Amino acid sequence: MGKKIGVLDSGIGGLTTVKSLQDLLPGEDIIYFGDNKNVPYGNKSKDEILALTLKMIDFFKENDVKIVAIACNTISTLIDSYKDRYDFPIVDIISPTADYVVEKALENVAIIGTEFTVNQASYNKLILKQNPDIEIISEGSKNLAALVDSGKFDDEETKETISNHLKNLKSKGNYKNLVLACTHYPIVQDIFLSFEPELNIINPAYQQAKTIKDYLSEKDLLNKQEMGSLNIYTSGGPEIYSKIIDRLELINVGEIKTVDI
Ligand code: DGL
Repeated sequence: MGKKIGVLDSGIGGLTTVKSLQDLLPGEDIIYFGDNKNVPYGNKSKDEILALTLKMIDFFKENDVKIVAIACNTISTLIDSYKDRYDFPIVDIISPTADYVVEKALENVAIIGTEFTVNQASYNKLILKQNPDIEIISEGSKNLAALVDSGKFDDEETKETISNHLKNLKSKGNYKNLVLACTHYPIVQDIFLSFEPELNIINPAYQQAKTIKDYLSEKDLLNKQEMGSLNIYTSGGPEIYSKIIDRLELINVGEIKTVDI
């Protein structure tokens, strides 16, 4: 059994899961892979996403992981196609939040994610299977993940895109709870709240980190050291990572390495 937690995403978005893991499990060693060369995944076909995902998980297989977090909603919609191919557990980001919505009996739920995630309707299926009375509306975005991945965290274009999506959601129905169903979106959560301060924002990255903590505690696999490390690998350049590391206040980050997988 390996020692590290592997976290992957199409780009920088999965670092929102890393942030929650560092808060909840400070002793863990984390290895991150962001496929920035191929971001965004949300506009690709199922076969393309699957092929790229297997390469990332294979990379983790060679790198001493005890568990892998799929810190990407788009990739998580396909979890059943790959989770049984490996001998370490693979945790998706969608089911912990679907369970949370049901447990808390949240009403009037809106979901915003990539078009791929919204078309797969995994949140809807998992929630409605447990409680068919919860009302859900959803909105897919073609470009918000790419805007965030290119570092346009506070740009007018990003603000306008978010404002338009919120208007679209309003025209579909009432909602009090908004699931940020793409791991890139919590990075610009402040913009969502600037337009609708009363919104209850649900961040699946946090729910995913909690699920990992529970699993590792239950199996007695927690790292007992006081302070863990964070090693970041990307298929793209390191520049965007310096920006996001500061914004999310990630700690103990080693050198950011570009690798071809
Ligand atoms: N961060 C990803 C997600 O949670 C994907 C964004 C993309 O590559 O389109 O869906």
